[in-house]
This record gives sequence, structure tokens and C-alpha cells, in this order.
Amino acid sequence: MADNSRKQANGARSYYDLLASKYDDATKEYKWIAPEIVNNLLLPHVKPGNSILDVGIGTAQSTEAFLKAGCNVCGVDISRKMLDKAKEKYPSLELYQGNIEEGVPFISTRSFDIVLGVGILEFVTNMENVIGIFSQLTKSEGLIGFTFEEFIAKHEVQGLKVSVTAKGALENVPEINNFMTVRYEYQEVESMIHNAGLSLLEHQHFIAYEKSQERIPISYTIMLAKKWV
Ligand SMILES: C[S@@+](CC[C@H](N)C(=O)[O-])C[C@H]1O[C@@H](n2cnc3c(N)ncnc32)[C@H](O)[C@@H]1O
Repeated sequence: MADNSRKQANGARSYYDLLASKYDDATKEYKWIAPEIVNNLLLPHVKPGNSILDVGIGTAQSTEAFLKAGCNVCGVDISRKMLDKAKEKYPSLELYQGNIEEGVPFISTRSFDIVLGVGILEFVTNMENVIGIFSQLTKSEGLIGFTFEEFIAKHEVQGLKVSVTAKGALENVPEINNFMTVRYEYQEVESMIHNAGLSLLEHQHFIAYEKSQERIPISYTIMLAKKWV
């Protein structure tokens, strides 16, 4: 595994381990609505008994609606402390600690009706590879729903393709100084979906949260793709 990717994964682990105890309160305060958006988009497609894999599950904010719909939810996250919070809230969850960029070998022989990645793809070093991994973990005729952070020229935060994640949140913590957020244009991500052999069914732009004390609106896009075979 490349050095860059290992550094980024270590940064994500440290950052979210530090944030875990405050994550649910902080996301409420800064109006994080991506889990609600993914629920609205995916729930009309689920049936009781469907299997869901939530990659970067965090504290399981998108999970409750799928559990209520009778689905079985499995989650993967790089942060042990975020997983502990998820388990505390929903003891029935099947959870694994792992870095998606390493291909999650503990579940690699399985496939799921729906694979989700909400608020995680801005932290991986090779998003196209990760979409390929999502596709391998999806059953034929299954769905993949994921968000990405948009690159927006001239935006005060999103005008940079890559910037330090911790700026404004948990500054001056040495182990996360090099933990980056990566942004993409819509067409770049559309190509990644096609390159993975998936069809894009739907997409939606939305304001995902308000950043820092200045409350700067941060735009995301959610993509819903289908694997046919
Ligand atoms: C912004 S949080 C989103 C959590 C949850 N999906 C939500 O919507 O509230 C990003 C999550 O992705 C996890 N993460 C970041 N990089 C990862 C990686 N390479 N592999 C697995 N999980 C990762 C973090 O630990 C964190 O829990």
C-alpha cells in the first residue's frame, strides 16, 4: 500500500477517534444532513431482509431507518471509537474495523443488496479504486449510494481540490496535520462510475453541513448507481 494512502488512513483513524464522543452533537450543531438524504434516496428501493453494507458507518446515523425497514446492516469503519458508538446505539449491527482502501478482506467473499458510502469518499486517496471495491461487494442488480464533496471554483473552502481536513475543527493535533479532504467535479465521478461498469440512476446536489464558526455551506452530491451483472 502506498505511503500516502497509509498516512491518510492513519489521519482518518486519529481524527475520528478524537471526534467520536462529540460526533453526534457536533453533526447536529453543524446541520449534517447526508444520512437523511441517503435514507430518502435509498429507502424506496429496500425490502425487508435486504443486506446493507455501510462503509464509513461512523456512529451509524444512516442506520436506524434501514433497521426499521427490516434490513440487516453491516458496517465498516477505520475508527474503533466511532464503531463503539455505533454498537452502543444499535447492538444488533455487525461491525468491522478496516480501511476500505485495503479491500476489507474479512467480508470480501460476501455481497450485499445495497452498499453505502456517506461522507467517506472525500478521505480516500483513490476514489475510483474504492468505487470498484464497492461494486465487487454489491450483488448483481444491487445498488450503490455514495456522497462526494464537490470542487467548486472560487468557493472559499471547496475552491481547493485538496485541503487539510482538520482546519477549523480540531486544529493543532499533530497526528492529523496531514489528514486531507479531496474534492471532485461531477463529471470526474460520473466517469469513475462508468469505468466501474455501473449505471448512474440518479444524483442530487445538496448542502451537507455548515463548516466552522463562520457557518460556510458545504456542497455534496449523492450518486445512486446500479450494478447490473
Ligand atoms: C464524516 S464521517 C461519516 C460517518 C457516517 N457515514 C455519517 O454519515 O454520519 C466519515 C467516516 O468515515 C470513516 N473513514 C474515513 N476514512 C476511512 C477509510 N479509509 N476506511 C474506512 N472508514 C473510513 C471515518 O472514521 C468516519 O467514521
